[in-house]
Amino acid sequence: MGHRTEIHDKVLNAKSLQDISEAYGFWATTYDQDLLDNFGYQAPARSVELLSKYLPMDEALVLDAGCGTGLVGQLLVKARKFQIDGVDYSQSMLAEAKAKGCYRALQQVDLNQPLRIAADIYDAVICIGTFTLGHVQPDALHEMLRITKSGGQICFTVRDEFWLKSNFGSLLNELEQASQAELSELQTIDYILSEGSKCKLVLLTVL
Ligand SMILES: C[S@@+](CC[C@H](N)C(=O)[O-])C[C@H]1O[C@@H](n2cnc3c(N)ncnc32)[C@H](O)[C@@H]1O
Repeated sequence: MGHRTEIHDKVLNAKSLQDISEAYGFWATTYDQDLLDNFGYQAPARSVELLSKYLPMDEALVLDAGCGTGLVGQLLVKARKFQIDGVDYSQSMLAEAKAKGCYRALQQVDLNQPLRIAADIYDAVICIGTFTLGHVQPDALHEMLRITKSGGQICFTVRDEFWLKSNFGSLLNELEQASQAELSELQTIDYILSEGSKCKLVLLTVL
């Protein structure tokens, strides 16, 4: 196992939304450089590559849930002419995402709460690095399903450490049993090279 920095430890040990705001408020301006140049963060590129295979149409409307500084949005607009909305709880991270200029709209949202977004709006929801320790809980998937059109996709990563501690496995089974979603992809991929960590990369098709 590799190392984890102090600020990264702090966000993974967040106990409240205030902890999230403070920690990401501190990290927002150096996040991209840390994650990409220093940590070797693999999840955004691998996830965008996978989702792009399932979403062939150029005009797809995608929600980046937990968009952070916009690393995923930036890759999505490079891949296709997607229209992308972003939501996140941290205003500092949202400000960095806005500066990238790749989002149609950005909004402060707590993904652990019901979303004020109409049903069946998005062709896809992508949620990368956000189902993790101290962040967003598996139940948030229910709202992501509600706002995604039938036949659309939900693409997300779950850090392996969190996968083992949470109920993602049984929740995905329940969604399949209830014919709400089909598990189209479940891969284990490198997550952060400097930590030697892995994550699950999941793609659900909404039924
Ligand atoms: C590790 S970052 C990932 C950001 C981006 N998706 C990426 O891959 O670079 C996790 C993000 O989740 C956001 N977050 C944490 N808890 C949240 C919550 N309850 N609701 C919405 N966003 C949350 C944080 O503010 C942070 O921007």
